[in-house]
Amino acid sequence: MKEQAHKRLNVGCGFDYRPGYVNVDMHQRHGPDVVADVLDLATFPSGFYEELVAQDVLEHVARSDVRRALFEWNRVLAVGGQIFVRTTELGGLVRALEAPEHQGIYDQERLIQNVFGTQAYQGDFHLSGFTEPLFRFYMWEAGFEVSSITLHQGVFLDAHARKLNDLGFELDRADTPAPAFVSQLFRAVLGREPNPEELRQETAALDGTSRRSLIMKLLLSDERKEIMARRVPPFPRALHRPGLLRRVARRAKRLVKAAVAPLR
Ligand SMILES: C[S@@+](CC[C@H](N)C(=O)[O-])C[C@H]1O[C@@H](n2cnc3c(N)ncnc32)[C@H](O)[C@@H]1O
Repeated sequence: MKEQAHKRLNVGCGFDYRPGYVNVDMHQRHGPDVVADVLDLATFPSGFYEELVAQDVLEHVARSDVRRALFEWNRVLAVGGQIFVRTTELGGLVRALEAPEHQGIYDQERLIQNVFGTQAYQGDFHLSGFTEPLFRFYMWEAGFEVSSITLHQGVFLDAHARKLNDLGFELDRADTPAPAFVSQLFRAVLGREPNPEELRQETAALDGTSRRSLIMKLLLSDERKEIMARRVPPFPRALHRPGLLRRVARRAKRLVKAAVAPLR
């Protein structure tokens, strides 16, 4: 099976065919090993891959599908597996567009192309864009621990991360009876038991849909989004940090505030 020829995936490979990887693209013309949508790697096994490269592809996914893409990439990776994402960084793009040295028409067109994509064929349009805080949030929400974020050519975000946990996809692998599976899944994804109606409905739905689809449905639910938004930790900042002087001034202001607080 081509999908399991290697333990490394290169999704949205385009012409960047990487030996030693299973190269995946939606277009046959790029000569990938497997033609597939990066949002639905249905024929790829769960928890199998040690590395996934997604270079210049996440911005081609509709904004409303970014979570789905990252959850799907989580699913195929083994716990501890590495992920590399390169995608457009809007802060860098805005700065570059405003920079005095990029005011020539050629440079402006090139940067605008980085925002919206080359638009040469279907799949070649940019449908989403990222900032560091938002990107870090999506990765955290999808069970990844980011180890580094750097700026590439001033306008792309390069991120290395590691998969921390299975998000509930591990339940798909166990041979649990349907009602017990539904209960376990609700606990794993939403941190609560299903109510009797949910238990009945979702158990019945499993006759016509896969367990994997139900896992994705709960991961994408508004309820989980709200839970995660409430738990969001403070993320470090690596890109576009304020200059040294501004950082020193902010720290001094915080120290003065803390010193005078007990006097009030
Ligand atoms: C800008 S190219 C990047 C190619 C390569 N990764 C690189 O870094 O040179 C984006 C590629 O993603 C592919 N692509 C876009 N959306 C996709 C999707 N939903 N599923 C699979 N491939 C997709 C396009 O066909 C295209 O080959």
